[in-house]
Amino acid sequence: MRTADLGGNRVPRRSRGVRGLAMVPLKRRRVAPSASSGHPSPPRTPQHPDVVIFLNERKMGASRRAFLTRLGRSKGFVVEESCSDSVTHIVSEHNSGEEVQAWLESQSIPKGIVDSVHLLDISWFTESMGSGEPISIQDRHKLKVNDKLRLDPPEFTVKNYACQRRTPLKHNNTHLTHALELLAESAAFGENEGRSVAFTRAASVLKTLPRSVQRIEELRGLPCLGEHSLRVIKEILEYGASQEVESTRQSEQYQAMKALTGIFGVGVKTADRWYREGVRRPSDLMDSEQKLNQAQQAGLQHYKDLNTCVSKAEADAIGVIVDQAVQAVLPGAQITLTGGFRRGKESGHDVDFLITHPEEGKEEGLMPKVVNWLDTQGLLLYQKTTRNSYLESKDGPARPPSNMDRFERCFSIFKLESQSCSPPEREKSHQWKAVRVDLVVSPFSQFAFAVLGWTGSKLFERDLRRYAGQVKNMSLNSHSLFDSHQRCFLRATSEEEIFSLLGLEYIPACDRNA
Ligand code: UTP
Ligand code: MN
Repeated sequence: MRTADLGGNRVPRRSRGVRGLAMVPLKRRRVAPSASSGHPSPPRTPQHPDVVIFLNERKMGASRRAFLTRLGRSKGFVVEESCSDSVTHIVSEHNSGEEVQAWLESQSIPKGIVDSVHLLDISWFTESMGSGEPISIQDRHKLKVNDKLRLDPPEFTVKNYACQRRTPLKHNNTHLTHALELLAESAAFGENEGRSVAFTRAASVLKTLPRSVQRIEELRGLPCLGEHSLRVIKEILEYGASQEVESTRQSEQYQAMKALTGIFGVGVKTADRWYREGVRRPSDLMDSEQKLNQAQQAGLQHYKDLNTCVSKAEADAIGVIVDQAVQAVLPGAQITLTGGFRRGKESGHDVDFLITHPEEGKEEGLMPKVVNWLDTQGLLLYQKTTRNSYLESKDGPARPPSNMDRFERCFSIFKLESQSCSPPEREKSHQWKAVRVDLVVSPFSQFAFAVLGWTGSKLFERDLRRYAGQVKNMSLNSHSLFDSHQRCFLRATSEEEIFSLLGLEYIPACDRNA
C-alpha cells in the first residue's frame, strides 16, 4: 500500500535504468517491504532493471510471496511491493488469466496496467530464478486473458511528466481533485512528502482530462494514479464522497494544522509542535507563552487579511506601486508579475514579482533601495530581505538544491489601500488590506530561468526539474540549465528557448496549472 501511494513518484518506465533506480531515495527503499525483513542475504543492486516484477498474493499467500520476493531480490531482480505503473511482469500462482484480470480490476488497478504488462504463471518466475536471469517468455508461461479487454483502446492518453502536458486553470473534475488535494495537504501536514506529491500528481492528471470522469474504468492506462488515489476516486464516483477524505476534513488535527500553517511564517514543523502542545487556533497563541518570531507576529496580527484571497485587481494595484518604486530607484528596470497570476488565476494567496534590468549588473543592490522607498511611503507592514548568494562558478549546477533559489529576495506584507470601497466607506471600517508580496531580483542573464521557475505551478516546476534530470541528464533551476553530459551551462533568453533546450513542446503559462 505505502509504495503504491508513492507510485506516481517513481522513476517512469521509459527512463528507468540502473541510473534511474539508483535515484530512488534510500528512505523509500527501506519503507514498506515487510517482505525483505529478517533475511540473511540482503537485496542486491538490480541486475535486470528492465524487468520489474509484481507477485500476486492471491492464492499464493503472504508468506510465500514474502519468501519469493526475498529470493528474487537476492538474485538481483526488481520485485515491487505494489502493482504500480512501473511493473512489467505480473506473476501469479494457481490463477487463470481471467482471475488475475478480475483481481487487478477489483483492486482498482486500471486495465492500462494489465494491458501493458506480461501476465505470467509462476513457472516463468521459478525458471528465471533457476537460471539467474529473466528467461524469455514462452507460450506456456503466459496466462490466457480475455483479449477484448486488452484491445479496447484507453479512454484518455496523458503524458507522464506535468511539463509534457497542458493543464488549464478550469477543468472538469474539481470534485475529484479537491478531494485528492485535501489528502495531499493532510499528508504534507504529517511530513510525508512522497505521499503528498503522489496525491498531488494524481489530482494533476485529472486536471488535464478534457471531460469529467464518470466511471473508474475510463482511467485505465493513465499515469500517476496509484492504488490509493484510485480507491478514493472510485468511492467518490460511486457514492459521491470518500469516507477517508471526509473524516480527514473533519479531524481536529487537520483543522488545527490548516489554521496554524495559515499563519504567515509558520511551517508544518512549528504548527505540529504547537498542536502537540495543545494549540488549536491562531487565537490560542495570543495569550500563550509561545515565542513568536517577527514574521509570525506579523502573520498573527494580519491573520484575517492574509487568509483572504488576493484578487487580480489588487495584484495589479500592487504592480503599479512596485513599478513606481523600482523606477524611482533604478530607471529602466523591469518588473514582471509571476506566480499564479501569470498563469491566469483570478485570485491567489500572495503576489509574486520578478525584477530585472536589461544592463547586467545594474540590478545589484537594487532590493534594499526598493524596500527603503516602499517603507518610506508607509507601504510595508513587514519585510525581510535576503541577499543574492548564487554564483554560477562557485555553486555549480547541482546547487541550490531543488526549489530553493538564491536570488535577492524580499518577503513582505504590503499595506494596500482598499480597492473596492469608495473613500467614505473606507473611513468607516478597514481602510487597507494586508497583502503578502514576494519580490525577487534577477540578473538579466538568468531572467528567463527565473521567470520559468517563479511562474509555477509547484508541481509543474517539480516535473520540469525531474524531467530535465531523468530524461535529459540536465540540471535545471531558477538560475540556469546545466548539461551534465556536455558538462556546460546552456544559455537561454526566453522560456521558449528553455523548453526547446529540454526537447519539450512549449507550454504557455496559462497551461501550467498542474
Ligand atoms: P507561490 O507559492 O506564490 O504559488 O509560488 P502560486 O502558484 O503563485 O499560487 P498562490 O496563488 O500564490 O498560492 C509561485 C512560484 O514560485 C516558486 C514556486 O515554485 C512557484 O512555482 N517559488 C516559490 C520558488 O521558486 N521559490 C520559493 O522560495 C517560493
Ligand atoms: Mn503566488
